[in-house]
Amino acid sequence: MKKEKAVEVSSLTKCFGELVAVDHVKFEVEKGEFFGFLGPNGAGKTTTIRILTGVIKPDEGNVQVLGYDVLENSIEAKQLMGVVPEMANAYLDLSAWNNLMLVGALYGVPKELRKERASKLLKEFKLYERRNCLVKGFSKGMKQKLLLCMALINEPEILFLDEPTSGLDVESRRLIIEVIQKLNKEGKTVFLTTHNIEEANQLCDRVAIINRGRIAAVDRPEKLRLKSSGLQSIEVSFDRKVDVEEVLEIEGVNKARKMGDKIKIYIDDPDAAINELVDFARSKKLKIVSLNTLAPSLEDVFLKLIKEN
Ligand SMILES: Nc1ncnc2c1ncn2[C@@H]1O[C@H](COP(=O)(O)OP(=O)(O)OP(=O)(O)O)[C@@H](O)[C@H]1O
Ligand SMILES: [Mg+2]
Repeated sequence: MKKEKAVEVSSLTKCFGELVAVDHVKFEVEKGEFFGFLGPNGAGKTTTIRILTGVIKPDEGNVQVLGYDVLENSIEAKQLMGVVPEMANAYLDLSAWNNLMLVGALYGVPKELRKERASKLLKEFKLYERRNCLVKGFSKGMKQKLLLCMALINEPEILFLDEPTSGLDVESRRLIIEVIQKLNKEGKTVFLTTHNIEEANQLCDRVAIINRGRIAAVDRPEKLRLKSSGLQSIEVSFDRKVDVEEVLEIEGVNKARKMGDKIKIYIDDPDAAINELVDFARSKKLKIVSLNTLAPSLEDVFLKLIKEN
């Protein structure tokens, strides 16, 4: 029997007038996976997540979430989902507690269980003391944490999070990430959109890179790094200022970028490039202060992929 996937999407397409926001997207997410959907602004991340969670309909394509066709059995599928949308708000004129009771009731969570879960979630997100305050007096971080509580009140099997930590301070961000990681460890599937490469690298089992509505790559972050050729780099600093243009003249250098007091050089063959660099320094009477060879960062891969696609 075919193993059921957490998410299975094919030929997914959504247009807004002339604009193809999502263009024949195809990918699968395994159950229990922490899956990242990484792309620059306007890439189609939110549009995709809105289709996956049954908020909007695609023009073309199939969407299965935990074995349910989201277009045909959206109610069954939605019962298993917890969603934190990009633009959302709790009811501002209700307290945190009443927001949770309302959402719990909508999901059909029995009253006593609702209360039990709400208390536990509010404590976990350090909002319990403020549970009876109106949401309109909440800070952005507090509102975002409450949205997560609301997404979790039905104990969903799969979480869809659209940039859940965007614009939050380090502490709030860390708390949210820790809770999400804990849920993932317990077996929940997480689908997270982000344009933060470091976040994707640290958290995700696999990432899909989306650009202009198309999937440019899907793989483990580490594999994406290793697969990309021509992205080996060397970071070098000299005892005097050297222009990037001069470094570009060196044989074997594909690209060079100034990074603070260092220059980052992209090459195919690090060994040959180091020899060339030493010759270059000698001919210019420069001293090499530091020199590091680096495997490509996920950022390098990302920038390369989105340029190519
Ligand atoms: N309701 C809409 N009407 C018209 N165009 C839309 C609508 N929603 C999205 N778009 C367009 O579709 C494209 C993809 O938008 P989307 O919000 O999915 O991007 P995103 O990857 O989530 O970007 P961001 O990182 O900025 O959140 C953009 O060009 C956007 O302007
Ligand atoms: Mg978005």
